[in-house]
Amino acid sequence: MSLRINDIAPNFTAETTQGTIDFHQWIGDGWAILFSHPKDFTPVCTTELGYMARIEPEFTKRNCKLIGLSVDPVEQHSAWAKDIEETQGAAVKYPMIGDKDLTVAKLYNMLPADEPGSAEGRTAANNATVRSVFIVGPDKRIKLMLTYPMTTGRNFDEILRVLDSMQLTSKYKVATPVNWKHGEDVIIVAAVSDDEAKKTYPAGFKTIKPYLRTVKQPG
Ligand code: BEZ
Repeated sequence: MSLRINDIAPNFTAETTQGTIDFHQWIGDGWAILFSHPKDFTPVCTTELGYMARIEPEFTKRNCKLIGLSVDPVEQHSAWAKDIEETQGAAVKYPMIGDKDLTVAKLYNMLPADEPGSAEGRTAANNATVRSVFIVGPDKRIKLMLTYPMTTGRNFDEILRVLDSMQLTSKYKVATPVNWKHGEDVIIVAAVSDDEAKKTYPAGFKTIKPYLRTVKQPG
């Protein structure tokens, strides 16, 4: 099934390192990040899972849960987690889905729906493109989808930055410019007239072009 931004994130029940979950129930009323891995005991993924373990408190502060996925059984994930802590210096506290039947990988279009077999005997190479990130909002809709090549580790600081932008722009009628970071000026969206902007931002805003107006980050 092809997925688009704003689609409902397909729900599923899966085994994880922290027991069986129903994805939507597990998300609850906050945000969630599902990030996937082609195979356990792979080097790039080891660094990625360790980094996410280290910065998980940043996501928690933003009311956002993390869940990893790898195309191997959960028993193997638990053994791998020990290596991750040993080599990356951070313990994985978020759950990891054991997608041994490729169910979630297929549901999220990371593998073709008619891909046969299970995790057994598969390699990281034939599990391409199971290196994706999905940000899911409190409304259970997909807010962001990213798929990376197998040999390129993801930049999870960028995921945090996007989350900051999405949480801000879901509250205020603003958009964030190129390379924006939390605390920097934002763009007033076109749907806001100059009159409304004057009322909303009594301290003023900058009109660079009629279609490009910036203001201090609200909130
Ligand atoms: C890795 O996660 O380290 C990896 C996976 C597939 C191909 C190459 C590297």
